[in-house]
Amino acid sequence: MILAPLRGVTVRCFRRTFADELAEAGFDEAVTPFITATGEYDPLRDRELRGGETIKVTPQFIGKDPVALRRCLERVKSAGYSTADLNAGCPFPMVRRKGRGSGLLRTPDVLARMLETGCEVMGEGAFSLKTRLGVDRADELLALMPAINAFPLRFLAVHARTARQMYEGGCDLAAFRAVEAAAKMPVVYNGDAPLSAKGRVMVGRAFVRALGERDDADGLVGRYVEASREELCGDRPVLGRMKELVAYWKDSPRWRRRWSSVKVARTVDELLRAVAY
Ligand SMILES: Cc1cc2nc3c(=O)[nH]c(=O)nc-3n(C[C@H](O)[C@H](O)[C@H](O)COP(=O)(O)O)c2cc1C
Repeated sequence: MILAPLRGVTVRCFRRTFADELAEAGFDEAVTPFITATGEYDPLRDRELRGGETIKVTPQFIGKDPVALRRCLERVKSAGYSTADLNAGCPFPMVRRKGRGSGLLRTPDVLARMLETGCEVMGEGAFSLKTRLGVDRADELLALMPAINAFPLRFLAVHARTARQMYEGGCDLAAFRAVEAAAKMPVVYNGDAPLSAKGRVMVGRAFVRALGERDDADGLVGRYVEASREELCGDRPVLGRMKELVAYWKDSPRWRRRWSSVKVARTVDELLRAVAY
């Protein structure tokens, strides 16, 4: 089971703090939240890739420039990472309209050059693609499968929604199955999967939500605060990070009331008091 990238949430500090909980839940790999592929990217300066993790980490890149991607991949490879992933799923209109993320599904020639670069630099079976069923329709990825099959990808992870859906509405299992049947590489299911899901699966929000259901959830927040204080400068970014985490728990009966105090907390200590209430 692979931990899905959740930007601002499943960051390195999160993965380190909850390493035991991740292992216990059955995760053996994490794809990082996306890193923008630019020519200047330096993994040694990136907080995401400082190592010290027990789970296998696969850096994910977002972009549309194969030259920039090549530089990034060469650098992460020499920093010791043996696998990398391309984001072709980000649904945000600003990203998509610029041809990045899910926008790559609308520029198959660019997508092909990105995949070619990835497989060339990382090697056969070491580069993966994370995407959606399509931009507007659930059969767009399927139409691209003959082209995608030309590359020796490590896996194809499919969030079984369209970009247009964002995170709304149901996942389309039939459309996912059609992609799976057409694919020559291993296909990983993603989208609303529970932690108990079997087979090749990528899970994000279900893991984050499950942390909030634990009896020691307030202690987990305490641990995450401590680790984040070592990494971040000052109260503000730590407070923001904790609110982002606890926001995943707000619909759960045990958190609904506490969330209303957590969300208005002005300091980390206020937040910790609200969490422990
Ligand atoms: C807050 C947030 C941030 C995300 N960041 C990324 C990202 O950086 N890269 C990516 O490929 N997908 C990203 N996703 C999509 C997730 O990886 C995943 O595809 C989606 O949440 C569905 O899986 P889940 O239902 O198991 O969470 C993000 C999703 C959310 C909600």
